Amino acid sequence: MAVIALTAAKGAPGVTTTCLALALAWPRPVLLIEADVAGSSSILAGYLRGSIRHDKGLVDVALAHRRGSLLDGLHQASIPLQDSTVRLVPGPTGPAQAVTLQNVWEPIAGVLRGLERTGTDVIVDAGRLGARYGPTPLLREADVTLLTTRTTLPAIAATRARAATLREDLFAQGTGDDALALLLVGEGHPYSAREIKSAVGVPVAAAVAWDPVHAEVFSIGASPSGKFASSSLLRSVRAAASAIQDFVTGRRERLAPGSLVRDTLLRDTGATRV
Ligand SMILES: Nc1ncnc2c1ncn2[C@@H]1O[C@H](COP(=O)(O)OP(=O)(O)O)[C@@H](O)[C@H]1O
Ligand SMILES: [Mg+2]
Repeated sequence: MAVIALTAAKGAPGVTTTCLALALAWPRPVLLIEADVAGSSSILAGYLRGSIRHDKGLVDVALAHRRGSLLDGLHQASIPLQDSTVRLVPGPTGPAQAVTLQNVWEPIAGVLRGLERTGTDVIVDAGRLGARYGPTPLLREADVTLLTTRTTLPAIAATRARAATLREDLFAQGTGDDALALLLVGEGHPYSAREIKSAVGVPVAAAVAWDPVHAEVFSIGASPSGKFASSSLLRSVRAAASAIQDFVTGRRERLAPGSLVRDTLLRDTGATRV
């Protein structure tokens, strides 16, 4: 169905936690890509608590690309997450590995879009915006780029400062600036979606609840309590998964050839790209 990328302006709002939770709640098979170049797989060490030996990752995909077998490389670098239809591709171990990825992001973006034909969706943990050797081409090619933020004033200020640049980049180099939306972590703690949308000037596609206890199941592999399945976190993640799919579907309908909305937008903005 789609490529969904999550990134953040600043700090650690919960990008990795939300990516993993969304992937596990997703209604179709997911390839979850850790494209955060800050280093070392948060999911292998966190959620899986180092219990699985897997020494492959995106850097092996770069090597496979040199051999002309990028798709095979992606599959071989991935590991299945138990009791799910999620396969994880661990990220680079640090900046040294990230350098080797700089020319591979673009071909990877192309291959990821093609995965749709196999019924697999892709969720990308793109880490922090603007990181050196970061996965910018994945953000540009995604069906939706979710700028993830907490709802405190400092988080909103940082998000607002970066949103304008990201929007311009997606318009000029990506599939269009309407791919940009916010994902809120902890809506109402203290600001609401409506307040943040008007402060940042970007629509809110989805929100997940503020739930530090259950978030640790994903972030550090804490044992889930009996209340985990009915927790506010999981309920909000399920709702977020469905809101994100609606966002993607709505956008594709607007972009479909012959769409009245698209043609009007292009005419009004004087843009020529399709
Ligand atoms: N919805 C949430 N509610 C409360 N705490 C959260 C939530 N999502 C993530 N966290 C916590 O925030 C911290 C950072 O999460 P992480 O996913 O590693 O952030 P990032 O990938 O943005 O650096 C972790 O301690 C995690 O448990
Ligand atoms: Mg992270």
